Amino acid sequence: MKSEQIKDLLGRMTLEEKVGQLSQITGEHYVGKVNEEMVETGPDFSSLSIKEEALYTIGSIIGVSSAKITNLIQAEYLKKSRLKIPLLFMHDAIHGYKTIFPIPLALSCSWDEEVVQKTAEEIASELRAAGIHVNFSPMVDLVRDARWGRVMESFGEDPILSGVLGKAMVRGYQKSDGRQIPQDGVASCLKHFAAYGGAIAGKDYNAVDMSMREFFEYYGKTYEIALEENPRFVMSSFNSFNGVPVSASKELLRDILQTKYHFEDILISDWGSVAELQNHRVAASPKEAADLAIQAGIEIEMVSTTYLQYLEELIEENPALLEYVDRAVLKILHLKNDLGLFENPYVDEEKEKTHHLKEETLRFAKEASKKSCVLLKNNQVLPINKNTKRILIVGPFSSTRQLLGNWHCKGKFEDVISLKEGLIDVAPQLEVQAYETLEECPAQAMRNCDFILVAIGENWQLSGEGHSSVQLELEPLQRQLIKDVKSLGIPYACICFSGRPLALQNIVDDIPALLWSWFPGTQAGTAIAELIMGKDTPSGKLTMSFPRHSAQVPIYYNEYSSGRPANDSSYSNRYQDCEIGPLFNFGHGLTYTNTTYSDFQLSDENITENNEIIISFKIHNPSDYDYSEIVILYIEDVISQTIRPEREMKKFKTIPIAAKQSVKASMTIQMDDLKYVNSKLKRTIERGNFNIYINDTTKPIFTIEY
Ligand code: IFM
Repeated sequence: MKSEQIKDLLGRMTLEEKVGQLSQITGEHYVGKVNEEMVETGPDFSSLSIKEEALYTIGSIIGVSSAKITNLIQAEYLKKSRLKIPLLFMHDAIHGYKTIFPIPLALSCSWDEEVVQKTAEEIASELRAAGIHVNFSPMVDLVRDARWGRVMESFGEDPILSGVLGKAMVRGYQKSDGRQIPQDGVASCLKHFAAYGGAIAGKDYNAVDMSMREFFEYYGKTYEIALEENPRFVMSSFNSFNGVPVSASKELLRDILQTKYHFEDILISDWGSVAELQNHRVAASPKEAADLAIQAGIEIEMVSTTYLQYLEELIEENPALLEYVDRAVLKILHLKNDLGLFENPYVDEEKEKTHHLKEETLRFAKEASKKSCVLLKNNQVLPINKNTKRILIVGPFSSTRQLLGNWHCKGKFEDVISLKEGLIDVAPQLEVQAYETLEECPAQAMRNCDFILVAIGENWQLSGEGHSSVQLELEPLQRQLIKDVKSLGIPYACICFSGRPLALQNIVDDIPALLWSWFPGTQAGTAIAELIMGKDTPSGKLTMSFPRHSAQVPIYYNEYSSGRPANDSSYSNRYQDCEIGPLFNFGHGLTYTNTTYSDFQLSDENITENNEIIISFKIHNPSDYDYSEIVILYIEDVISQTIRPEREMKKFKTIPIAAKQSVKASMTIQMDDLKYVNSKLKRTIERGNFNIYINDTTKPIFTIEY
């Protein structure tokens, strides 16, 4: 359809039809409950207080998938709707639809934009084949508190990394530089604006309270960066922000998101969060909730129905609201057009049958999983010695297929490769036995084995939305298991599965080697087996700091400087009963390669508006592994008027480097990288020196001056 035809269509719509476009409901209202193909991701609002005719004005459906069922609903809808504007189907395929990739927190540990983009491309293809047009992903909420269950959906604690990987994901979903979305692409919904990850005490849905400087410099910056890729949607968050629920906040949604960050596309609420303005106690009735939300800028109400019930009445009382409604409807119609829905609102049911869990998708999923694992500790235990003949795997994750992580959409455990299966597949010469506990192991298996893998972690249901925890320590039974294995005197290593960083101070000394595999997805077992058997080297680096104790969170690398920096004195910025700093730092991750850096050079010691500074160096990989080295560049502003963190990550790169080779690499710093938001909320740079660090160097490699 041409632009004029869309405008014409808008002109022919009744107010009721327009309001319908701004409303999203679940699918059972059209075809009844079809369990397999419908998911609920929030509380039940199914008894809609609306007239039946209104059902055929609705703009979009949430939580339904499969070509068959979306076609069925679409047909039923189009048959009865006056203007025959096709429905949009929206879903949460957070890290995969049927082929499940590593959880986003894991993926971020690859630091690899290409891997992240390709993951999104694969997810988009599977989704579109199942009749879905919009994916509620990526979530770029900055996280610093591992108690919050949704850290698993995030890209970690650094705003630039989260923003850049978010951008890569949007690019991968939408597959387009322009407005048209191809037949194997989906519209992306960036979420949850704003600062949802800053929930007080790490409790899901809790209030967020922070200075605007903190917001613009950290929590807001992730969205600001990701928005550069033009996601077609942004979702408002459940939380209140500095006293105002986000879905009623003109300041956040209109002044910051739309005006300052230039977001011009569709703003959707989270599940029920317009009606929940009543629970926040800023609205005394559903009608007031609708009024607050439309004024604030919410253009689609997800699942609750205050718009359907009251928007027409509100417009009668305040005709100025019609402008908001018309603008929103126009954007929705344009999106439907850009997806090609007016030409063909249906999907090919035959194609779907061959479009999921494709061999090449699985192959890529394995690579993504390998790049997401982080080797946290290795006292020369991994890779497993080539002469090993018998391996015993013990622990709750020894042979389970429950390795998908939360939000695994339509991924099925039966499609997952367990650790045991992966090991047998990758090393068929090995004799592999697996048990959940040592007590179950036949004595002979224990005596005869020459290596033990302890497969530990946190059940997938313990992280994700609505799954915040106060306890971040590994459970006592698992700690005991590690100690019991240690007492056997047989070489061993631990593989840990989890959706969040855990606090391991009380067990880490008993672990000689630790591979953190998060939740790796469908190809979990093979990916891990290839790493521990030494077919490939682990190469991931942490994107979230690991605390020593639960009570150390929130903990993050870019803390502000203190007047009393942490040291041995009690009168310093530390806890009296805990060692200083995290157990494993942001950016930590080992390989098997003994890679070295040398020949650091600086193009210029002075930075100006007109030049950029190039830092070049040589990386040597003396090992037999081809892999990608993750290089992270930090800056430190030596003196500034407003305090800054000791270190801030500014640039990162993944550099492919073949076995036994050296490569020259370089990173560039522009003046903009040195700017920051000061206490007057002004983005600025001050004259002075800036130290530059690469990876975990404790001394600056260079100092530059502005
Ligand atoms: O997309 C999600 C969101 O992240 C949390 N609430 C429900 C939405 C839709 O399922």
